[in-house]
Amino acid sequence: EWTMESFIDKEIARIRKIVGPTGRVVGAVSGGVDSTVAAKLMHEAIGDRFHAILVDNGVMRLNECQLVKKMLGDHMGINIKVSDAADLFLGKLKGVTDPETKRKIIGNTFIEVFEAEAALIDKEAGGEIEFLLQGTLYPDVIESISFKGPSATIKTHHNVGGLLEDMKLKLIEPLRELFKDEVRALGKLLGLDDELVWRHPFPGPGIAIRILGEVTKDQVAIARHADHIYIEEIKSNGYYRQISQAYAALLPVKAVGVMGDKRTYEQVIALRAVETKDFMTADIFASAEWFMCLKRISSRIINEVKGVNRVVYDISSKPPATIEWE
Ligand code: XMP
Repeated sequence: EWTMESFIDKEIARIRKIVGPTGRVVGAVSGGVDSTVAAKLMHEAIGDRFHAILVDNGVMRLNECQLVKKMLGDHMGINIKVSDAADLFLGKLKGVTDPETKRKIIGNTFIEVFEAEAALIDKEAGGEIEFLLQGTLYPDVIESISFKGPSATIKTHHNVGGLLEDMKLKLIEPLRELFKDEVRALGKLLGLDDELVWRHPFPGPGIAIRILGEVTKDQVAIARHADHIYIEEIKSNGYYRQISQAYAALLPVKAVGVMGDKRTYEQVIALRAVETKDFMTADIFASAEWFMCLKRISSRIINEVKGVNRVVYDISSKPPATIEWE
């Protein structure tokens, strides 16, 4: 009989057998459910012989890297290294406005940074890194064959093909037969915090595809701050679990406003919140109480985030709109 408990035991035994008594494993973590559950499982199986790498690409959410390091490193005891590559990523993104170009740059730079870190760890460990952990889910396995939408691009982010060839790493994918809800259940069983288990998905290219137009340090600061307030309010008002995904996007237009007796001319934040089962179609999150809450969030953002004087709510369904703006 298949149960989640028996899955854990079997998978840990399988990993131990593959990796052996001295082998080591590297894997990228992001703080998302999939990579965290995969990392936890690997840590249960081989302890410190698993090396997690968190690449700070400069377009994660506010304080996200420190938070993930604390959660995985301090709380879960996972061997984790943060690679601060924010300036490298932002340098390469300079002047770039096309969404797909942003994705390509971030994906390629991610692979470059991850490979360099993995090689360093391998050197320190005396060449014992033999395996690469990936939190691939069953739908990812299917999609890579049949679906050529934006998610096809997702593949390029996680496709660390060069590493597999150059370092001759073998792939371990403990979640490749599971669906998202099963991964959440697994995470719960493994003792992960609810906060972690129920996290909204966050795209690999991060807030770079939520800043329309050029991604600069200043734009990142504005988008991060607005998003932070938005998510904080969603959580404190009890909406987080009802919403499948929510974020603030920064629009590349200026609008007129009034502050005291002065005219302002500043940027616009678009708030998005959707309900969906599979992220292929999505409805906007809407109710009378939610709109009252949005009103409060809007004034908080305008009052607290410098450079923003207007907030709009995105009421488009997917399709024809996508969940992300880029
Ligand atoms: P869209 O915008 O296509 O998004 O409706 C569907 C889901 O996929 C996420 N998404 C991405 N995730 N890299 C990722 O890792 C990407 O380039 C990317 N683009 C979209 C999006 O956040 C949503 O959950």
